[in-house]
Amino acid sequence: MAAEQPTLLEGIRSTVTADLAAVDAAIRRELASDVVLVNQVSEYIIGAGGKRLRPLLVLLAARAAGAPPLGPQVQAAVIIEFIHTATLLHDDVVDGSRQRRGRDTANEVWGNATSVLVGDFLYSRAFQMMVRLKSLKVMEIMADATNAIAEGEVLQLMHVHDPEISESRYLDVIYRKTARLFEAGAGIAAVLAGAPARHEAALAGYARALGNAFQLADDWLDYRGSATERGKNVGDDLAEGKPTLPLIHALRAGNTEQRLLLRRAIETGGLEELPAVLAAIESAGGLEYTAGLAQREADQALAALEPLPESVHLEALRQLAGFAVSRSY
Ligand code: IPE
Ligand code: IPE
Ligand code: MG
Ligand code: MG
Repeated sequence: MAAEQPTLLEGIRSTVTADLAAVDAAIRRELASDVVLVNQVSEYIIGAGGKRLRPLLVLLAARAAGAPPLGPQVQAAVIIEFIHTATLLHDDVVDGSRQRRGRDTANEVWGNATSVLVGDFLYSRAFQMMVRLKSLKVMEIMADATNAIAEGEVLQLMHVHDPEISESRYLDVIYRKTARLFEAGAGIAAVLAGAPARHEAALAGYARALGNAFQLADDWLDYRGSATERGKNVGDDLAEGKPTLPLIHALRAGNTEQRLLLRRAIETGGLEELPAVLAAIESAGGLEYTAGLAQREADQALAALEPLPESVHLEALRQLAGFAVSRSY
């Protein structure tokens, strides 16, 4: 199945080939700075690619909402990818991560200070570009979303090494830190396309569920994925004592001995006990449970699209929901 995934994503991308090329060109243009280190670091992380899933979502949402190709959604897609990349630069510092997009993280190469500051550059460049779109509604959606993302990351930080975190708190964290950006991306695409309010709500609702599904899959893959395929280390969540859903579920479904082991693993972090922790998660059904919830979110994403008229772009959005939960990278 893994071998088919690039084809699935390629098929989805082929519905917006020209827009994607325009996004790529705009990314290059907008990265420019006369400060050498800014150029170097932003080139390093953006040049490594990544899946570019969020710009794809923005482009598809705009087209599904009736926008012609090469409209302002191209700028919007770049804005969302810059904000995403800025959060990754910051996130890797906070998480102490060493691999990203198949390379050493920027914090590993240049240190934390450089990563944080270049993250700020990308963040604020995104806001400069937003101003050029001259839409107060877009500004409002993005200001609210970026604020919520920051809250999500802080909320998550408050629960590092906390085995008591509830499932609903975890779901709140993943909505804020990940799904809000997806939701905002589809929302601004619909606004820029001049879509009616119910289509805007449908696309935002779709993207919110998609983002939740995407993060649930990410947390599943952190235990089961391949580092080579993902371009980032697996086991990072456990190493830093981050209680994600596979652990949260195993903590309530496991036997006494397993629960003790998992509590200790979250409280101390580290990978010494990874095999035992994995076995406990597995036997308590933590991975299955997480995958089940991801699938439920993907189904909700599909259902949310119902008000929109049929089009190749709508079909591509449906396939994207499938990719979010079947992906191996
Ligand atoms: C990583 O996002 C951060 C999460 C929300 C899990 P992606 O998996 O989309 O990262 P890239 O852009 O492809 O590197
Ligand atoms: C990603 O969270 C969310 C943001 C970057 C805001 P993770 O910490 O799970 O992402 P990865 O696993 O490092 O990509
Ligand atoms: Mg991280
Ligand atoms: Mg992760």
